[in-house]
Formats: sequence, structure tokens, C-alpha cells
Amino acid sequence: MTANFPGYFISFEGIDGAGKSTHIDAFCKLMQECYPNHEVVVTREPGGTPLGEQLRGLLLDAPMNLETEALLMFAARREHLAQVIEPALAAGKIVISDRFTDASFAYQGGGRGLSIAKLNDLERWVQGREDGALLQPNLTILFDLPGEVAEARRSKVRAPDKFEKMDLNFFEKVRQEYLRRAKEDPQRFHLVDATQTPEAIWNGLQALKINF
Ligand code: TMP
Repeated sequence: MTANFPGYFISFEGIDGAGKSTHIDAFCKLMQECYPNHEVVVTREPGGTPLGEQLRGLLLDAPMNLETEALLMFAARREHLAQVIEPALAAGKIVISDRFTDASFAYQGGGRGLSIAKLNDLERWVQGREDGALLQPNLTILFDLPGEVAEARRSKVRAPDKFEKMDLNFFEKVRQEYLRRAKEDPQRFHLVDATQTPEAIWNGLQALKINF
């Protein structure tokens, strides 16, 4: 059961190098044009609040124990929900987040090997609501592509952070966990074949039916 808010929550997901960042700004503008009476709030994880951005700095650079890493991701998320996401959704706004909890399942779970049972517990703790519902995005746009294609794209950009330095095997496991989550909740996920050209991907995003 997904929590009921008057607003609408969209997350963008995918392995590093999948190309999601290229499209987020344009997609936000498109949403604002389609829904002029609803403010669009753009945010990201880890981050999205002053505390979350501080945690992001640590999470992307400092070496740490895997469980510490997962707990800090969810701590930043709890703050993000309390300060930004829940108030915006309660006010009827459209929230677009560059990553959310599926990234923790994919990276800390699939990639690094933290147990899915522990991640389920953290998800329920941080996103569970009093009525028993779980706050999830209404729509998750997953940019999917093979690890080696993403690796070739990543090598063309800026200095890699802690996650971007990981090897192909890690990213293949991240990808598989994203796909498992998508299979588990097909109504929430929209899969984008990210091997397509940016133009073809954008055409697909423009044609996406939003149930808002
Ligand atoms: P970004 O490069 O898309 O801004 O994401 C930052 C990195 O953080 C990216 O490599 C994925 C990683 N990440 C996790 O490992 N777990 C999480 O829960 C989130 C939100 C991001």
C-alpha cells in the first residue's frame, strides 16, 4: 500500500553513467508546463537538505563500514522526507528526486551485499506511516543499460567518486537489483532502455503517461 498524498512523487534511478541526469532538468520543465497549478520541487539523494548534503559529502568520499553506509543513506532520507518530501507532497506539489530508496537496495544491497531483509527493515522504519502504508514514489523512471556501456560513458566524465570507482561486476549486481525491484512493483516502475540515443529517450519521456 502506498501512502496517499495530494502531491505526486517521481524518482529517477539507474546505475552511474546511465544518463538520467541529462534528462532530469528538461523533465522537470515539462512537468511544470503540464501542471502549471502544481509547483515542481527538484531534489536529490543522498542530499536534498543541509544535513543530507553534509552526509552526501561523507558518503561519496569517506571509506566506511557497509552497515554504517546504509544507515547514513537512510538517515539522510529520513531528514529529506521530514523536511522536504512529505511537506511538499502534503501541499500538492510534484516532487522529482534524483534517486531514492531503490538506490539503497541496488547499491548497498545488490552491489555491496547488505542483506535485503535489513534493507526492508530500514525502508519500513524510514518510509512507514502511522496507517501502515509505505511512502514510495508514485512513479520511478529507471534508466537501464548494461554495465559495460555505462562504464564507457563514465570514463568520459569528471573524476569518479567512491561508487563510480567500483568495477563492472559491482555495477552488474546493482543493475540486477534495480531490475528485481522493478519486477516486484511493475506499476510503479517505468523502464527506459538507456542504450538509446538521448533524443529517443527524451521522446519516450515526453510520451510518458502520468497518473496525476
Ligand atoms: P549520483 O551520482 O546519482 O548523484 O548518486 C550518488 C551516488 O550515491 C551514486 O553512485 C549512487 C549512490 N547511492 C547509494 O549508494 N545509495 C543510495 O541510497 C543513494 C540514494 C545513492
